[in-house]
Amino acid sequence: MYITAMIIAQVSLFLSIILSWIAGNKASTLLYSRSEEHLNRNARTLKRWAIVLSVPAAGVIVAVIMMLASSKPIFWADRLLLLPLAAIPPFMLWIMTIPRLRRIRQATGRKLMSPLDVRLRGRSAQPAVVLPYQLSTLCSLTGLYLLLTSTMPSSLFGIVIPLLVLAVAALGLWMSHLNRSSRIGLTGIEPVNRPWRRLMGRSAIVFAAAAIAYFPFLSLKNDSLLPVTLAMSSGTIDYGIGSKTVAHQHGGEPASNHATKPKISVDTLTGPVNGEPAVRFTLTAETKTIALSSGKEVEAWTFNGQTPGPELRVRQGQLVEVTLINKNIKTGATLHWHGLDVPNAEDGIAGVTQNAVMPGESYTYRFVAKQAGTYWYHSHQESMEAVQRGLFGPLIVEPAKGLPAGTKDINVISHIWQGAGFAIGTNDGIEQIRIAPGTPVRLRLVNTDDWVRQSYRLVGTPFQVAAIDGTDVIQPGDLSNVSLKLTTGGRYDVTFIMPETPVYLAVGAGKAGDKLGLLMSASGEAAVPALKSSFPLTAEFDPLHYGKPAETQFDANSSFDREFKLVLDNKLGFYNGELGFHYTMNGKLFPDTPMFMVKEGELVKMTIVNRGSVDHPMHLHGHHMLVLSRNGVQATGSPWWSDTLDVTPGDVFEVGFIADNPGIWMDHCHNLAHAAVGMSMHLMYEGVDSPYKIGSGTVNRPE
Ligand code: C2O
Ligand code: CU
Repeated sequence: MYITAMIIAQVSLFLSIILSWIAGNKASTLLYSRSEEHLNRNARTLKRWAIVLSVPAAGVIVAVIMMLASSKPIFWADRLLLLPLAAIPPFMLWIMTIPRLRRIRQATGRKLMSPLDVRLRGRSAQPAVVLPYQLSTLCSLTGLYLLLTSTMPSSLFGIVIPLLVLAVAALGLWMSHLNRSSRIGLTGIEPVNRPWRRLMGRSAIVFAAAAIAYFPFLSLKNDSLLPVTLAMSSGTIDYGIGSKTVAHQHGGEPASNHATKPKISVDTLTGPVNGEPAVRFTLTAETKTIALSSGKEVEAWTFNGQTPGPELRVRQGQLVEVTLINKNIKTGATLHWHGLDVPNAEDGIAGVTQNAVMPGESYTYRFVAKQAGTYWYHSHQESMEAVQRGLFGPLIVEPAKGLPAGTKDINVISHIWQGAGFAIGTNDGIEQIRIAPGTPVRLRLVNTDDWVRQSYRLVGTPFQVAAIDGTDVIQPGDLSNVSLKLTTGGRYDVTFIMPETPVYLAVGAGKAGDKLGLLMSASGEAAVPALKSSFPLTAEFDPLHYGKPAETQFDANSSFDREFKLVLDNKLGFYNGELGFHYTMNGKLFPDTPMFMVKEGELVKMTIVNRGSVDHPMHLHGHHMLVLSRNGVQATGSPWWSDTLDVTPGDVFEVGFIADNPGIWMDHCHNLAHAAVGMSMHLMYEGVDSPYKIGSGTVNRPE
């Protein structure tokens, strides 16, 4: 509903600009009507334009208000200003313009062909006749500008300036119309229609306005450039709100004391330094041309010559050692363990927990795999390009006691290859897999795309969603005719017992699923089922009430030490010198978004609100978030722990986490294309510092 209301508002404002511009031109030339008959006819046309502009506007205003009425004020409070902007011009058209046009028509009703009385011309040029049309254009323009550029929390400056410009322009037009109409009335001199002069005058005004606007434009552009070097620990801080924090601030330690405390470097927050690892892997990053199953070729970035990279399969509790060697990835590489909560120094973030590993260099990560589940690894240096090109792979942590005997365990990694389209790993068609009936099957769905919430349909058997983002679901119920949607970066583990008959996992929505998927059967040679008839889609899987509730360390009723608000939005503006429609967090882009500051041991609540127009998979490093509620509805199923949470437009999620993993942790949108243009911030622990820097003067570009 929210997104529909926003689209309606934007499109209507845009249409209003165009239509009122046309009507405004007609209105400002009304006085040049050749005869009374013409004036009469032109006034009628203008009256129609007034109706066209005002009646739909009123309808749109009422519709948008009704659509937004049920949503929280955070979605509309700062946009209330748009209401008068949208309502005043139609209102003026009704009470000022239409009655005057009617009187002009009455005065011109009889002597049709007679030449036009000069006083009638004066009346046709009155501000009350002409200005409302033009005000309509100006107000719609200002409204659209504010809608596209201002975000929560909005800056006063960003609102006052456009309103001032609007007021000056309206006043200028009003004076010029008044001046013109009274001059005609007083002097009785016939006005001469000079369209060319008018056009030139208007062009001059537009040109002058553009020239004036150029300087703030340029300074905004320059201000947005990323600094040469930047430490993550610098920048503005959001301490959140919370009873304990406030009490602490009143009676607690003085700030000076706090500042002189020695800082802990992220370098010291490592996994076990000593000890023989239970498993060792070496991943060599290198470029390589790979072929998809269709024969299409991709200039990929690979680990050990393959993409997805080798499966890293370990057991829960094992000490894992992975060495990254960068052979020839010019921009550098790192390894980040997506979803696995490792110590901060092992998190693999260029410029935050290490320097990017440049060609010829290597780097070793050591950590204990504490959680069992489905994870993935990827480079976190220029992560958008790295992941798009293939620097990623599956990381599977089996439970300490192993999987059920005989389990057929299959990784299903959905990826878009640039220029080659969708694939499951490198299979861009239908893969036949032979599985004996009675076999327990586990499909580990991982979505490594950008942009796309991938759709999956499992045909031929009921199934369970056994795990979400690596965490087991308690007593997952049987599902059938339910489609799964997986956000970018997220994971679902799907389990079932292989039946006698074939089972098809369709990857992709609608018809796309006919051409991409896994076809499992006893023979390994089955026919693809007709999805349309065999899959009467009833619903989309929703984790909010799925599975059996269980005791957790905290829940929605706990008292939280700190509460943060994270508002996601769109904004037309600059990021690193590039003008675009960017995605903001709390109204700002990286690195201006205030970091969230916590203390080790605190229980933290975060309310994530999406006011934007697209969904954002929010990924917090180093921690798992427990979903408490969505849009006011409490989570009642198996505890829903997420590391990559899909927040769609209009959504309000309340999540909680325990600050039990000190360090500096990225918190960003895992649509990596969004992160690459500033949709990234970090969670900071008090007293932690990093010796690494990012910025144009370094090699480190985490996103
Ligand atoms: Cu999968 Cu910060 O990333
Ligand atoms: Cu996003």
